[in-house]
Amino acid sequence: MPVRSRHHRPLAERPPPPSQVLIGRTLQHGKIRAVEVGLGESGEIVAVGRSISGGRRHDLGEAVLLPAAVDLHVHFRSPDARVEGENWSSGTIQAALGGVGTVGEMPNANPAVSTASRLVERAERGRGRLAVDMVLFGALVRARDVAALGRVAGALKLYLAPTTGIDDPVDQDEAGELLRSAASTGLAVTVHAEDPAHFRPLGNATNPVEWDSARPLEAEEAAVERLLRNVPPSLRLHIAHVTSARVSERLRAAGHSFEVSPHHLLLHGRPSDGARFKVNPPLRSETERARLWEELTLGRVPCVASDHAPHDPEEKEGPFSLAPAGVPGVGTLLPLLLARARRGELSLSVLVQAACERPSLWFGVPGGRLLPGHRGGVIAVDFRRIERFHASRFPSSCGWSPFEGSEMIFPVEHWRGGERIVEGGEYTGRPTGSIVRPEYARN
Ligand code: DOR
Ligand code: ZN
Repeated sequence: MPVRSRHHRPLAERPPPPSQVLIGRTLQHGKIRAVEVGLGESGEIVAVGRSISGGRRHDLGEAVLLPAAVDLHVHFRSPDARVEGENWSSGTIQAALGGVGTVGEMPNANPAVSTASRLVERAERGRGRLAVDMVLFGALVRARDVAALGRVAGALKLYLAPTTGIDDPVDQDEAGELLRSAASTGLAVTVHAEDPAHFRPLGNATNPVEWDSARPLEAEEAAVERLLRNVPPSLRLHIAHVTSARVSERLRAAGHSFEVSPHHLLLHGRPSDGARFKVNPPLRSETERARLWEELTLGRVPCVASDHAPHDPEEKEGPFSLAPAGVPGVGTLLPLLLARARRGELSLSVLVQAACERPSLWFGVPGGRLLPGHRGGVIAVDFRRIERFHASRFPSSCGWSPFEGSEMIFPVEHWRGGERIVEGGEYTGRPTGSIVRPEYARN
């Protein structure tokens, strides 16, 4: 799969002495071993080894040190708290608690973030409110806006189907032109790939199984096939929220990046469930879900991402047909999968690659590995601290989760930029996160 590692520059020959040393255990060559991780002044990893001298020492005992995760796909909505609902502060605090150090904020705001000026205005409104770093997506809507958008966005998004905030998606002919313009920006492009030509009347659905019949897997397969036929060769293409093993195999064979979300990996559509489980693309059958999970466990899924869509509980309680689609998940992405790793259902190294290493390479942002020279955050995970999750754990207006009551393992500590932003599983940080762009975009 296409990844770039140029930004992981080796440090100068003599690395600076660490200002902090985290002592714990880590995963090395598939085994858990004792380790010390030296952090420099600004939080960069300067040394990793059995024994590191200098700096303040923090003994994390049995905890396993891992790179902070990168969530390629969130909807934090409003940069500030001007309107009710999720905002960049509450969203990034949930990310911090869940061990996510960088998030990709989607552009399906109202109006869509499809011009450079809208994107810059949003970035300004969000300044000083971020607990972790953020990559801002621009929406591909009009080809004439793309070059300027590409100079300020960190990544681009194309919606081929209607979804929250996108009533009028681009049609297939426009898509070709937009993708060609996007290719010349050099930025990564995430595509919401469902072909509405394969949708049945959506208004009739009354539960997640009917929603799945209305927006069936064929719609996803058709959109992906068409994309694969038309994708410009130089485009850094990434497909969002893939729901089936067949699509995963197809994209892998074609050499494209993609992501899978925990709700499609762990939940299936049930006729007894209500609109809280309405999401685009829909939850699929138990058979599809199990196959998709197997793809992940076999290391065949390049990235996991939450598609965090924090709709208010009141909006989700009305009639199914009127409820907005989407489920929250940025804070539970890693804790859910860490609990599965603890149970032996998923290898920790497969998880670290899919949640940390590959998303970070894909976005061109630092981090994702515990190696000298890396500048991402570090989390400490105590695998004995399994908890039953309640959404009230998070400071969010959303207040519910499709994973209520599930077993999770939250990081006990999260270090970023030389500061500890989570201690004893609680957020203790300051809003020191920034808007980041891929290192390759700056060249
Ligand atoms: O279910 C979804 N919700 N799918 C999307 O593509 C958008 C998202 C949202 O923004 O609420
Ligand atoms: Zn989304």
